[in-house]
Amino acid sequence: MAAVLKEEEINLIDYSWEVLSTSPQSMMRFYDHLFAIAPETRHFFPDDISKQSEKLAYTIGFIVGNLERLETIKNAIEDIGRFHNKLQIEAYHYTNLKIALVKTIEENMEEKYHEDIGKAWYSALDYVSNLMLNAATKKQGRFVRFTSKLFH
Ligand code: HEM
Repeated sequence: MAAVLKEEEINLIDYSWEVLSTSPQSMMRFYDHLFAIAPETRHFFPDDISKQSEKLAYTIGFIVGNLERLETIKNAIEDIGRFHNKLQIEAYHYTNLKIALVKTIEENMEEKYHEDIGKAWYSALDYVSNLMLNAATKKQGRFVRFTSKLFH
């Protein structure tokens, strides 16, 4: 099976994620951007966004750590997708997430940011969001239970 991402794209994502994940406030900034772009999504989330922010950072870290073998974590991604499909999260919400995340990365990297980094993230997030949106309806599996236990 052809790789989902090219080696160069994986390197750019790895590098930019490393920069982002060293700043604990950066995922909170991500939600600031998301709610500025799409204020109508605020109601989906609890008032205190800090736990959710940790879960998203953990999950993105998990995805970034498996970029060379995304097909092997397909089930976990689909599981998170089913959870989101039940919440009625739709394709345009994922588009907003991509814009907000790339904006956060750009802001965080300052002059180290360049366009290819954003493009690489878009390719990875397109793959992930398509899997999530198209996940067949069935009982939630292990990944959502795992992240729930980890943070609650
Ligand atoms: C790459 C795409 C995404 C990933 C990897 C992701 C990941 C996650 C994870 C891991 C959880 C926690 C599940 C648990 O409790 O175990 C979660 C919850 C949630 N996500 Fe996402 N998510 C994505 C996209 C989105 C989008 C586009 C939206 C809507 C704008 C969204 C809205 C939510 C909401 C509302 C919750 C539940 C919050 C709560 O009530 O605690 N997610 N997400």
